[in-house]
Amino acid sequence: MKAWIIKKYGTSESIEFKEIDNPVVKKSEILIEVNFVGLNPYDIIVRNGGAKLLSGSKFPKVLGGDFSGTVLKAHPKNTNLKVGQSVYGFANIFMGKPGALAEQTVMNEKYVRALPENISLKDSATVTSAALTALNGYRGCGDLKSKEVLINGATGGVGHFATQIAVARGAIVTGVCGTDNIDFSKQLGAHHTIDYSKESIFEQTKKFDIIFDVSGKLTFSDSKKLLKNKGTFITTEESVKAYLLFVFKKLLPSKHKMLLSSFRGLPEDFEELELLMSNKKLKPTICQAFSFDKADKAFEKQENGKNYGKIVVQVKSTHNVYKK
Ligand SMILES: NC(=O)c1ccc[n+]([C@@H]2O[C@H](COP(=O)([O-])OP(=O)(O)OC[C@H]3O[C@@H](n4cnc5c(N)ncnc54)[C@H](OP(=O)(O)O)[C@@H]3O)[C@@H](O)[C@H]2O)c1
Repeated sequence: MKAWIIKKYGTSESIEFKEIDNPVVKKSEILIEVNFVGLNPYDIIVRNGGAKLLSGSKFPKVLGGDFSGTVLKAHPKNTNLKVGQSVYGFANIFMGKPGALAEQTVMNEKYVRALPENISLKDSATVTSAALTALNGYRGCGDLKSKEVLINGATGGVGHFATQIAVARGAIVTGVCGTDNIDFSKQLGAHHTIDYSKESIFEQTKKFDIIFDVSGKLTFSDSKKLLKNKGTFITTEESVKAYLLFVFKKLLPSKHKMLLSSFRGLPEDFEELELLMSNKKLKPTICQAFSFDKADKAFEKQENGKNYGKIVVQVKSTHNVYKK
């Protein structure tokens, strides 16, 4: 089968489109024909070896985390997923498992969800990591109704989901993004928009109940200047420094709370996400879709930034051969 692989960690040149052996399915696994793969910043980090302690040293390594596809083979005893069923989820590349940027992939059913009828394969490939990261960020914030929420990076992969979720929950949202994405921020429902290239967020006088930084540019210490008393700072930063600060803040009394947002993926997280999507409160926006043979270009676009919403690769046509 065809797959996008790396033979060693490296730059954009290390990614290759190759013929590799079809995956072998173990008893507890599901064989999936991949339809779409959605990219995230971590796909670049995995490719360049920035997470090699987790992604392992077994090569060739198939890239790609978030996916949607069709079940080709499922063990009748251990799964509620049937052959021909549309599914979406996450290929656990952080456990050294093969990624989804291949014609077929195998994975543990824990990471595979049956696709609800009213959600498309294309949209579902974009949501697992970024939308769950956005959703999980607000856990611990309580009711968002009428709260002033600032989203720093409101139009990117995580940000465009975080904006829609806050709007859906009745928050008053201020979205921060670059000039090109101002209109998009408004379309997402942000009540106010700040162009970070023209105005510093620190220039305004308003204070916020919640600041959600999805750009990696804002520190907890800086955000305090913009937070109300008892306000909450949420960050998607995944560093030892951020984690230690989070633990420290939990232990000591403080005027402000800090939360770490990351992909969790419990069944109830997926259910909440699917409900939001089914109710049209959450809609992925696809900035650009690439064909399977151009996935290297999709990686380049993800790496070079200046995107909005999500980037997807179409691995196979969405025609489901099992459906009438
Ligand atoms: N995607 C995931 O599943 C995931 C999971 C956990 C953690 N994270 C982390 O979360 C962060 C965002 O991920 P993503 O997928 O949303 O990436 P992304 O799609 O590249 O979005 C980054 C956003 O940051 C904005 N930005 C850039 N410079 C800014 C500045 N100076 N001030 C305010 N906003 C700025 C960009 O806006 P413009 O395009 O308008 O410049 C863009 O909206 C990354 O650090 C990532 O490692 C992501």
